[in-house]
Formats: sequence, C-alpha cells, structure tokens
Amino acid sequence: MPDARRTNTALLWLLVSALLTGAAVDGFGTPLVGRWVVVGHGVAGIGLLVLSRPKHRVVRRSLDRPRRRPGSRWSLVLLALVLLTVATGLLQASGLVERLGPVTVLQVHVVGGVAIVPVAAQHWLRRRRQRVVRTTQAGVRSGLPTRRGLLQGTAIAVAAGGAWAGWEGGLAVAGAPGAARRFTGSHETGSGDPGQPVTQW
Ligand code: HEM
Repeated sequence: MPDARRTNTALLWLLVSALLTGAAVDGFGTPLVGRWVVVGHGVAGIGLLVLSRPKHRVVRRSLDRPRRRPGSRWSLVLLALVLLTVATGLLQASGLVERLGPVTVLQVHVVGGVAIVPVAAQHWLRRRRQRVVRTTQAGVRSGLPTRRGLLQGTAIAVAAGGAWAGWEGGLAVAGAPGAARRFTGSHETGSGDPGQPVTQW
C-alpha cells in the first residue's frame, strides 16, 4: 500500500495524464495513434479509482483532524469533480446512457474534466506550500525517486491497466453498446439514418 505522499504523487500523474489524453482524444483519426490515446485515457481515468482506497485513508485522516486545513472545502469540491468526471467517462464509454436531461453525458464529462484544472492546480499549490514549510522545518528535502517508489509506481500502472482491461471485458460480456465503439471511443448511432447524433468524432 503506497504511503500518503506517494498516493498523492500517483494521483497527480494520473490526473495530468487523463487531462492531456482527454484533450487529445478526438485529435487523432488513425487507429495507430488514436487507439492508444483512447486506451491511455481510459487507463489513467480508471487508475484514479484504483487509488481511491489509499486516498480514502488520506482523506479520512484529514477530515478527522480537530482543525481542518485551510481550503479543505475545495479539496472536497475536487473530489466531487473527479468522481463526476470518471463516472460520466465510464457512462459515456458504456454507451448505456447518452443524455442527462438536456445535456449529453459527454458534455458533462468534458465540462467536469475542464473544471478540474483550476481546482486541482490550487489544491496542488497549497499542498506544495505546506510541504515546503514542513521539509524546511525538518531540514530534509524530497530527493530523487527511490526504488520503492518506482516499484509502487509500476504496481499502480499495472493495476490501472488491469482494471481498464477488466472494465472493457465487462462491457463485452454484458453486451453493452460500448463494447463495439470505434477506436476513437465514439459510438455508431447514425449510419444510414438522416438524423445524425449531436456530437461526432
Ligand atoms: C481529469 C479529467 C478526466 C478524467 C478523470 C477522465 C476519465 C475518463 C474515463 C474513466 C473514461 C472511460 C474510459 C474507458 O472506458 O475506456 C473517459 C472517457 C472519455 N473521456 Fe475522459 N476524463 C477526463 C477528461 C476528459 C476531457 C478533458 C475530455 C475531452 C476534452 C475527455 C473525453 C473523453 C472521451 C471522448 C471519452 C470516451 C472515450 C472512450 O469511449 O473510450 N475526458 N474519461
């Protein structure tokens, strides 16, 4: 089980990867690159769920403190945005639900993903300031990645890949529409039908 600092570092890497691949997901029209961007996006997004157990302990400890740290309300907003974005990403990929009221699932997903950026940035900056104060007081600095850190990073990447493969396999076994989506992640809904879907890629 990774410690709190490693859990937070891994979450940061996964979040940045999910955002970058999410922004690039509809930018590649060839299976060679496009498929891997979509796979990378799924692995990074689902990887956030893989880390939910160790992160849950970090969050619990923080909430149990008699005096909350400044800005802890924003941390909860960040948590809610990440959960919303991952949930709508999975819903979008499954193809089971296309709309949530007047908007599409994908629109909610993208807005959630974009809203994460400023909230995550200020969360990271605040935590970084607190860590700098602590390490300066203790007279130590965090150094290069350790062997243990690299091993844990590899274990997290393997677990995230496994969870993504399990999710994709689950879609196929359940016969969900998402099992037959294109390498770009899009669903076939309008072929031979003059009424084309609102969002296409
Ligand atoms: C931190 C932000 C984000 C997270 C955590 C996230 C997470 C996810 C997850 C878990 C999936 C399901 C993947 C799968 O089943 O293979 C997904 C799908 C998708 N996401 Fe995101 N996402 C984020 C940001 C974005 C952004 C910013 C965009 C676009 C601008 C985007 C576009 C998409 C698209 C098009 C899909 C469908 C791809 C597919 O069917 O495999 N995502 N996302």
